[in-house]
Amino acid sequence: MPIIKRIFTRKIFDSRGVETLEVDVITENGFGRVAAPFGAPGSRGEFEAPAYSPEGLDTSIAIVEKEIQPKIVGLSSSDQGQIDGILKDIDGTENFERIGGNTSSTISLAVAKAAASALNVPLYKHLALDGSFRYPYPLGNMIGGGAHSMGSAPDMQEHLVVSIGARDVKEAIMLNLEVHGKIGDVLEGRDPGFAGGMDDERAWVANLTDVEAFDIIYDVCLKIKEKTGMTFGIGLDLAADRLWNPDTKEYEYHREGKSRTTNEQIGFLSSLIEKYNLVYVEDAFHSNDYASFAVLNEKYGHRCFICADDIYASNPERTGHGIELNSANAMILKPNQVGTVTGALETCKLAQKNKVRVIVSHRSGETDDASIAHLAIGWHLPMIKTGVLGGERLAKLNELLRVNVDYPMADLSF
Ligand code: PGA
Ligand code: ZN
Repeated sequence: MPIIKRIFTRKIFDSRGVETLEVDVITENGFGRVAAPFGAPGSRGEFEAPAYSPEGLDTSIAIVEKEIQPKIVGLSSSDQGQIDGILKDIDGTENFERIGGNTSSTISLAVAKAAASALNVPLYKHLALDGSFRYPYPLGNMIGGGAHSMGSAPDMQEHLVVSIGARDVKEAIMLNLEVHGKIGDVLEGRDPGFAGGMDDERAWVANLTDVEAFDIIYDVCLKIKEKTGMTFGIGLDLAADRLWNPDTKEYEYHREGKSRTTNEQIGFLSSLIEKYNLVYVEDAFHSNDYASFAVLNEKYGHRCFICADDIYASNPERTGHGIELNSANAMILKPNQVGTVTGALETCKLAQKNKVRVIVSHRSGETDDASIAHLAIGWHLPMIKTGVLGGERLAKLNELLRVNVDYPMADLSF
């Protein structure tokens, strides 16, 4: 029986060496363990659920032990909706401001994992939308910048590659690794000062402008394509909130020494989409500017994923508002932004019903938890954004390999 017997909480360290919450849910014959990821200060979305109680992680743990555990022990771990409803009631706020999105999403996912284990099915099948499954394409962070790095790195947070020509998930992972490795060789060759640095997500950090970063990525992808016939798509995550200055109403590119008005930002991004044939543009504008997202989506939504992360914050209401305005044809889903499996599924279904593609994502601070790999397979998500290298990133990619069933790759076509 999947009846919840006990919840254990502990503090472990994430990939940045910061303490984070890990939860074990024990059922009569099942076990689920999940650890919480964490966004970087300056990169976490303004509208996402806060990670923990305003008093910190220790208070969140005390709430789990004193308030949450007594209410959910004895219930069925299969009843995800009931458990998530109780988490919401105990929190009592709109957006998990009292207990924190990390607290609630970690318990919620651990309950799902425990139920899957008790029922002896993989998590992706337990949470499945229907009986069909697909592998996501890994979207790999190749060159870092912005809030995830320091010094003379590019202004944009992430310069990304997806191996769109890959025939299976293993090939897609290997190709991303090859691109990442070759970029390292190029960086080493062009700058004697390059010391092999990588950022929080194990993307290369180097003394580059954004345009130089894209030139390098474009050339590396082209060379591999010439050798193997394999095709790649290039993308970016601007995390534009961090560049936006609300006083001057301009995007400040510090590394480049340039500011851009919103119209200039649209022009700049359009030129990058054209020049590098970009297939993916995330958080191109600050997280209140639904209108400029819609302009870019109108212009390029037929050929490029115009993706909303911080602006939608995985939140059903914000996503619904964006859908009304046609602001994006894709969105990022991070379970700890919305707080529960039920909330994540609600957002996911709303988006999919309105032809907005959902991409599940890691955070810059990560653990070896691989739950998001299961959401990608079970919920038909076209891509999983989870870095290329590093144990905490490969944990998700290796989990895709562990599933080891001959499911087709997701459909990336427009
Ligand atoms: P974060 O960054 O995890 O630091 O918020 C990831 C992203 O912006 O996509
Ligand atoms: Zn983002």
